[in-house]
Amino acid sequence: MNLVVVSNRVARGKANEPMTGGLAAALLPVVENSGAIWVGSSGRVREGSHKEPFAEIEALGAGALATVDLPAAHYGGYYEGFANSALWPALHSRSDLIRASQEDYSSYREVNAFIARALLRFRKPDALFWVQDYHFLALGAELRDLGVREPIGFFLHTPWPSSTVIEGVPHHRELIEAMLAYDLIGFQTEADCANFHCYVRAELGLEIHDGVVTSPRGRTRLTVFPIGIDAEKFAHAATKAVSHPDVSRLRRSLNGEKLAIGVDRLDYSKGLINRIKAFDRMWTTQPSLSRAVSLLQIATPSRGSIEAYGQLQSEVAKLVSDVNGRHGEADWTPIRYLNKGYSQAVLSGLYRTAQVGVVTPLHDGMNLVAKEYVAAQHPADPGVLVLSKFAGAANELDTALLVNPHDIDGMARTIATALSMPLTERRMRWEAMMTKLRGHTIQQWFGDFVEALHESRTGVPATEPSITEPSSLRPLRTVGSGSRIH
Ligand code: G6P
Repeated sequence: MNLVVVSNRVARGKANEPMTGGLAAALLPVVENSGAIWVGSSGRVREGSHKEPFAEIEALGAGALATVDLPAAHYGGYYEGFANSALWPALHSRSDLIRASQEDYSSYREVNAFIARALLRFRKPDALFWVQDYHFLALGAELRDLGVREPIGFFLHTPWPSSTVIEGVPHHRELIEAMLAYDLIGFQTEADCANFHCYVRAELGLEIHDGVVTSPRGRTRLTVFPIGIDAEKFAHAATKAVSHPDVSRLRRSLNGEKLAIGVDRLDYSKGLINRIKAFDRMWTTQPSLSRAVSLLQIATPSRGSIEAYGQLQSEVAKLVSDVNGRHGEADWTPIRYLNKGYSQAVLSGLYRTAQVGVVTPLHDGMNLVAKEYVAAQHPADPGVLVLSKFAGAANELDTALLVNPHDIDGMARTIATALSMPLTERRMRWEAMMTKLRGHTIQQWFGDFVEALHESRTGVPATEPSITEPSSLRPLRTVGSGSRIH
C-alpha cells in the first residue's frame, strides 16, 4: 500500500527544531517510519498561474516530504480567511469570532482543488489518501471529482461543535456534503462524533447505521480515534533534556521556588487570559504562595496577521505585565512570559522541571501538551497536571486535576491544591495517566486509522504501508523555511 498523508502544515525530521502545533509534531515520527509521502504547504506562495502545482520533494525517514507553494491569489483567503477566521473559531465554538467573505470561501475551495491536483502525481493503484484537519474539508470531494477512486480518509484534530455553531459557517451545508466524499472520517472524541451525527441527521436528513452514513457521495464511516503520543520516547527525551543548558539554567534560576508551566500556541482557544487571572487570584488570596511558585508561560505566536490573534497578543501581554507589576518584587517575577517556540528536546526538560502543568483550554480537540507533560515526569517524584475538562485529553487523563477554565476561583484553588499535593497521591494519579498513555500510543493511532481506512473499502485488514520507491521521486532539493512560523 502507498500511503499519502496530507496536511496544511508539515514538519521536517529535525527533533531539535521548534515546531508549531501538535499536528505536525505528532505526525512527524509516525509518518517518517511508515514510508508514507507527506504532502503539505511549503509556507510560501507562488504568483501567476496556479493551475499546475509544483511539489518539491525531499527524503523523510523511510518516505518523502512533498511541499507545495500555494497560489498567491488565494492563500490569504484560504489560510487567514476561511480556514482560520471562519472554520477555526466555529470548530472551537467561538461563533462571535466567525468572519468570512464570499471571496474567502472561493479561495478555500480553490486551494482544496489545487492540492487535489498536486496529489494526482502520487496516485497509484494501491494508494491510500489520508487528509488531516479543517484546512481540507473539501479535498476528498475534489479528488473524487478528478476521478480518484482509491480510499480517502480524513481526521479532524479539532473539536466538532454543535450544529447551531456550525450553522454560523457560510456554506456549511455544501462543505459537509463534500466531506461525505471521504470513506472514513475520524474524530478525537465521542462528543465530536456525536455532534457530527446530529448535523448529518438533522440538517442533511441522512440515516446513519452502525456508524456509516450513506449519501449521494457514497458510504462514509464515522469513527473516534483519540490521538496519542510516544510516551516512552518522550519520557526518555525528558531524562536526557534535564542536562540541556536551557533546562539547567532554568533550574538554577528557581532558588527552591516551585514552577508551574503552560505551553500553548498564542490562540484564544487556549484559555490564556483565564489561566493568568487564576494565578493572579491565587497570589491575591493566598499571599504565602508569592515567591513560593512562579508560572513559566510559553505562548508561541501563530496566525499573527489575523485581527483576533493580534488583539489576544496585546491583551495577554498587558495582563502579564499588570500581574507582574502587582505581585512582583525586585528579585521575583511571578510570570515568566515567552513568545517563542522550543524544540521537543528542550520542552520535555522544561516539563520535567515544573511541579505543575497547567493545560486549561476553553476548548481543544485533544491537547498533546497535557500528554507530554505527564510523560516527561520523574516517576519517583511526578508533577501534577491541572487540565481543562474541555480538552479532549480529559477523557483519558481523568486522574489529572480537572478544572472548568471559566471558573477563575476554582482554577486558583486547584492550582494551590496541586502545589501542595502529597507524593503518594501525585504518584497514584501519575501512574494511572501513564498507564493510559502507554496503552494508546501515536503509533497505534496511526496504524488503527490506516487499517480502518483500508477496511472501509475492502473489508480486509491492511498490510503494512510499503516504503515508497525513491526512484519515482524527483531529485531531492532542500527547501527554505519561507514564511513558516516555527
Ligand atoms: C492546530 C491545528 C493544526 C495546525 C496547528 C498550527 O493544532 O489543528 O492543523 O497545524 O494548530 O496552526 P498553524 O495555523 O500555525 O499552522
